Amino acid sequence: MSAANAGASGQFKILGELAVTRLGYGAMRITGPGIWGEPRDRAEAIRVLRRLPELGVNFIDTADSYGPTISEDLIAEALHPYKGLLIATKGGLTRHGPDIWQPVGRPEYLRQCVLMSLRRLKVERIGLWQLHRIDPKVPREEQFGLIAELLKEGLIQHAGLSEVNVEQVKAARKFFPVATVQNLYNLGNRKSEAVLDYCTAEGIGFIPWFPLAAGSLAKPGGLADRIAKAHGATTGQVALAWLLKRSKAMLPIPGTGSVKHLEENVAAAGVMLSDGEFEELARASAG
Ligand SMILES: NC(=O)c1ccc[n+]([C@@H]2O[C@H](COP(=O)([O-])OP(=O)(O)OC[C@H]3O[C@@H](n4cnc5c(N)ncnc54)[C@H](OP(=O)(O)O)[C@@H]3O)[C@@H](O)[C@H]2O)c1
Repeated sequence: MSAANAGASGQFKILGELAVTRLGYGAMRITGPGIWGEPRDRAEAIRVLRRLPELGVNFIDTADSYGPTISEDLIAEALHPYKGLLIATKGGLTRHGPDIWQPVGRPEYLRQCVLMSLRRLKVERIGLWQLHRIDPKVPREEQFGLIAELLKEGLIQHAGLSEVNVEQVKAARKFFPVATVQNLYNLGNRKSEAVLDYCTAEGIGFIPWFPLAAGSLAKPGGLADRIAKAHGATTGQVALAWLLKRSKAMLPIPGTGSVKHLEENVAAAGVMLSDGEFEELARASAG
């Protein structure tokens, strides 16, 4: 396990210019229950973050709403000035308590999200900023237009979307170059297949969240479990290996608050599924 390195997952260039190692890290789990408040073990959360560059992970996903603010604060404490790391954050979701997420997409609020993330992360520009949700109560053109302004002003270098369909990505691209799309996608839930195919064809990074899940395939005796045993791996590692093989634009961001789990997840970059195993998992998880 000590030889684990994310580098084995290969690289992806965001909008053809910003290179990241494809297997990244999601920093949502270094907060309290319900993604609210401080993590149970703060020292371990800092250890997890500091272990990332040692394991070759240089793409970290967070959001202002994780904690809220706790995840960004911990990242700054552990990793600033982020030499060689891309810290991608998100804005546009407000928090009223554990597990409660409410979108607010008014341009003046989204601008404040970016300004506060800049302050917490202690940077002058955010490498990748993602609209956490399109707010249905606000015309989407206002939200996309604000993102275009932030890009033009240089407060953010690249911009992405989250939980969107192909039509919404196309609509946003009329305002700004969409660098990434972050949607729920894993071996147990492939509802975003069309978006993934569109992103792959267009060179847009696709960031699948909840990537470790494999649904019923992970049950003892299930297909992912059997393939995992054949590789001396876990079902979570097989789920990540399948995602990495599914598309060159795939940027999984498994999240954890434990160094042990982090090392296990990074080791998935070295799990090479055969074409037959990949196809079998694809067939079993389709639909
Ligand atoms: N855009 C969005 O709307 C959205 C929504 C949700 C998440 N995200 C992003 O996606 C990232 C990943 O999503 P996620 O955290 O929901 O799903 P995930 O990474 O697939 O799963 C995380 C869960 O699995 C556990 N885990 C991690 N590694 C493990 C291992 N090796 N063995 C056993 N358990 C393990 C974690 O607990 P431990 O901490 O105990 O390891 C945690 O409960 C988040 O961190 C966040 O950045 C985005």
